[in-house]
Amino acid sequence: MKLSIALSVALVSAALASAKPLPLAKRASADDWKDRAIYQLLTDRFARPDGSTDGCSNLSSYCGGGYQGIIDKLDYITGMGFDAIWISPIPANSANGYHGYWATNFEALNENFGSEDDLKALISAAHDKGVYVMLDVVANHAGPTENGDYSGYTFGSADLYHPQCTIDYGSQTSIEQCWVADVLPDIDTENQNNIDKLNSIVSNWISTYGFDGIRIDTFKHVRKDFWPGYVSASGVFATGEVFDGDPSYVGPYQEVVDSLINYPLYYGINDVFASGSGFSRISELLASNKVAFSDVSVLTNFVDNHDNPRFLNKQNDVAQFKNALTFVLLAEGIPIVYYGSEQGFSGGADPANREVLWTTGFDTSSDLYQFIANVNKNVRVKSGKNITMDVAVNDNTYAFIHGSVLVVLNNYGSGASNFVTISAGGLFSDGDTVIDVISNITATVSGGNISFNINNGLPAIFQRA
Ligand code: NOJ
Repeated sequence: MKLSIALSVALVSAALASAKPLPLAKRASADDWKDRAIYQLLTDRFARPDGSTDGCSNLSSYCGGGYQGIIDKLDYITGMGFDAIWISPIPANSANGYHGYWATNFEALNENFGSEDDLKALISAAHDKGVYVMLDVVANHAGPTENGDYSGYTFGSADLYHPQCTIDYGSQTSIEQCWVADVLPDIDTENQNNIDKLNSIVSNWISTYGFDGIRIDTFKHVRKDFWPGYVSASGVFATGEVFDGDPSYVGPYQEVVDSLINYPLYYGINDVFASGSGFSRISELLASNKVAFSDVSVLTNFVDNHDNPRFLNKQNDVAQFKNALTFVLLAEGIPIVYYGSEQGFSGGADPANREVLWTTGFDTSSDLYQFIANVNKNVRVKSGKNITMDVAVNDNTYAFIHGSVLVVLNNYGSGASNFVTISAGGLFSDGDTVIDVISNITATVSGGNISFNINNGLPAIFQRA
């Protein structure tokens, strides 16, 4: 008896000694996100779980998209070379909260998108394909109430919110404590119980489902020093939405979060490719961003999103759009492409810019789908990440280096065939023959420059032939 006890003790201690501590689930960091490209979709608008494709008559309410729909169409996304998706906020919402930004019970799921198991299945299917999943999260506010009735809300009484007031955008305190759009109850983020609750909610979302990153809504509407606790409770890479074009206003927010949505550059990209500004506009913004942000390499770049009229609504020229998309996909930073860009969607102000995708039949042969796939798969992931912006900055042409390629953009528009001589930035040597990945233009480097005729307004991406 004694012997067998001694034996089992010995066996147990031997087992314990040899057992390596289980690694904690790996949480994705900014470095893990740096080499990825994000496809932003609205869960309600991307794909229906039952595969049906009839249109949606009311874009201000639910149209029927859901998690199983996304699972079924993951190959459509990876087929364009994206290795991350950004999905809508997941909690239960007020009536018509198809976008997810109007949480009532933060601890229950919005069942219009599917069940807990469906959401888990989405994340595991995405991970199986090497795709990260970024969750959109809101800590600033809850959804609109029916006459101030908070029953069913996580923050269930009026005293847990700042008193209702209209935002005075000249006052930072007012931006932080008054109510977005006048109707979104502004959670009292000075109240310690609320802070603890919000932190535990985000931590649970990540640990329950295994998200790899978060996009934080209405970031400037909460006091800055709230965020470090929240971001660290999430434990994953976070990019914050400060809806403002001024680098000196947005930049300092990087003291409290890994990354910011690059709104300053968004305005520059739109000015250059949709409104005809010279490329110095982009170059100046890049310079201001470098001063204002602590690390521009992790800012999330975009040309379109769900809060602004689409590019093609403002400038219905596909060549200009392709130049803008090429900038987003290859410039320094983490690219985000808004769903529907690949099908040439051109919706105006919200909700017209939140079209349903399924009516296109998820056409992988469309011109823009093929274009994005080419730039992502043949250039972004293959050419390396050593980026030098501003190799050449002119009124109508711009060059930058992305790893082993020279990207030459223009804003002449479709039909343009201008003859361009532009610096190769020392990437190639005189006598080298280079070939353009977009139109197969070939050129010989001479005097450090590449000379060629633009093809129909398209960007050119030169690599050594
Ligand atoms: C910004 C989001 O992107 C937008 O769609 C939403 O309506 C507001 N924040 C309020 O949450």
